[in-house]
Amino acid sequence: MRTHGRKNGFVTTGQEARLLRWLPVIGLPKEKRLSDAGLPAAAPIVMEIGFGNGDFLVHLAKTHPDWALLGVEIYLPGVAKAVGRLEDAGVIERSRITQLPAQFVLTHQVAEQQLDGIYINHPDPWPKARHHKRRIIQKDFAALMVSRLKPGGFIKLASDKPDLAEWMRDILDATPGLENVAGPGGFVERDVDRPQTKFEQRGIKAGRISQFLHYVKS
Ligand SMILES: C[S@@+](CC[C@H](N)C(=O)[O-])C[C@H]1O[C@@H](n2cnc3c(N)ncnc32)[C@H](O)[C@@H]1O
Repeated sequence: MRTHGRKNGFVTTGQEARLLRWLPVIGLPKEKRLSDAGLPAAAPIVMEIGFGNGDFLVHLAKTHPDWALLGVEIYLPGVAKAVGRLEDAGVIERSRITQLPAQFVLTHQVAEQQLDGIYINHPDPWPKARHHKRRIIQKDFAALMVSRLKPGGFIKLASDKPDLAEWMRDILDATPGLENVAGPGGFVERDVDRPQTKFEQRGIKAGRISQFLHYVKS
């Protein structure tokens, strides 16, 4: 499986200690399935793909005390930051974290109809046309996400790049089993309690306005 983007990078000694403490408890190594990860059986499971520094994951955990969280991020310093933030927020024990690519996690570790929701915030834009195939939202990936959602489950996305926002909308609008909450071709208002992620803030500094998508599995 090919992934694109940085994977390793600098992790401080303190972060390394926290990773060593927590990954045996909350990590999801590649041979382990989410159903064997010890999450509370009745908890809705919501996944964030590409969680960056983990701030949005912490927001989800704090605002939804009944949810279990699955965070997926291929960049190790992001994983290290998120582990620290989840621990500091007191929500780490109902979180599961992995550095494996989302495509692998969904294909091999998440069962059909296991998830209640999926968030993807400001995915990598890959602006050059010859790199569009690297964008995470593709026809097959959209169908994979739908297969892992329960009926009534949601996918929520954000992007500050209009070209990418429209790309994601066009693919997801055409994906069988998904309904665009804003109607075909539409974008929703931002959720009122939604914090700005690091990449949304970067977009704002550059004068860009974020757009939001919300789909429900029928
Ligand atoms: C542009 S950043 C956005 C980070 C964060 N969501 C935000 O809004 O600030 C995109 C993130 O997705 C991660 N990523 C890229 N491809 C991925 C994949 N296949 N699976 C999981 N994460 C991925 C990158 O490492 C990066 O941290």
